[in-house]
Amino acid sequence: MSKLAIVYHSAHGHTEFIARQVLAGTQDVEDVEAHLVKAEDIARTPDELVDYDGFILGSPTYLGGVSGPFKSFMDATGRLWRTQQLKGKLAAGFTVSSLPAGDKQSTLLSMFVFSMQHGMLWVGNPILPEQHSGVPYDEAANRLGSWSGLMAQAGHSAPSDSFVPGDVKTAKMFGRHFAESLNRVMVPA
Ligand SMILES: Cc1cc2nc3c(=O)[nH]c(=O)nc-3n(C[C@H](O)[C@H](O)[C@H](O)COP(=O)(O)O)c2cc1C
Repeated sequence: MSKLAIVYHSAHGHTEFIARQVLAGTQDVEDVEAHLVKAEDIARTPDELVDYDGFILGSPTYLGGVSGPFKSFMDATGRLWRTQQLKGKLAAGFTVSSLPAGDKQSTLLSMFVFSMQHGMLWVGNPILPEQHSGVPYDEAANRLGSWSGLMAQAGHSAPSDSFVPGDVKTAKMFGRHFAESLNRVMVPA
């Protein structure tokens, strides 16, 4: 059984809602155990990260980067970086913001560089935008066209579950792809 953590911060629930869709996608895959982990909690006990085989990182985009609590989690892994204890594990990222672009790419890049510094292996979001094959834009998988990681968009003051069906679908596909990737790289003991 591979073990993965969806490590996320969410101040107003939107990122948590997407984290739950990602979790649902991982649950379609056998032999993978996935856990939702709040960034604020694991920042206090970062050594627990060693117990996982892979990480899906999630943060809202704040001013073109990860949120403060998510950055604090990243910084709490400094000792693990020195000993490279996360080397070889899988990592991927997702972000939620209120604007169609909103500089979400910068947030994903920050997660990517973090994962590279730890020697992890990055998993992207290999989904062709379905609007190109005639699916209505709001229902289309990867409608926002992000391959480096998962992007989702919801109005800042809208309810936390107010995502278009395309973003919900993409989140599930992203979680499933990560779990399948984990199964592919894990060598049976
Ligand atoms: C301090 C702050 C900065 C933000 N910066 C951006 C931004 O750069 N781009 C954007 O599109 N949305 C931005 N937003 C909107 C959030 O990304 C958006 O509301 C997100 O859904 C919040 O996630 P949460 O509900 O999980 O906390 C910002 C919000 C806050 C509070």
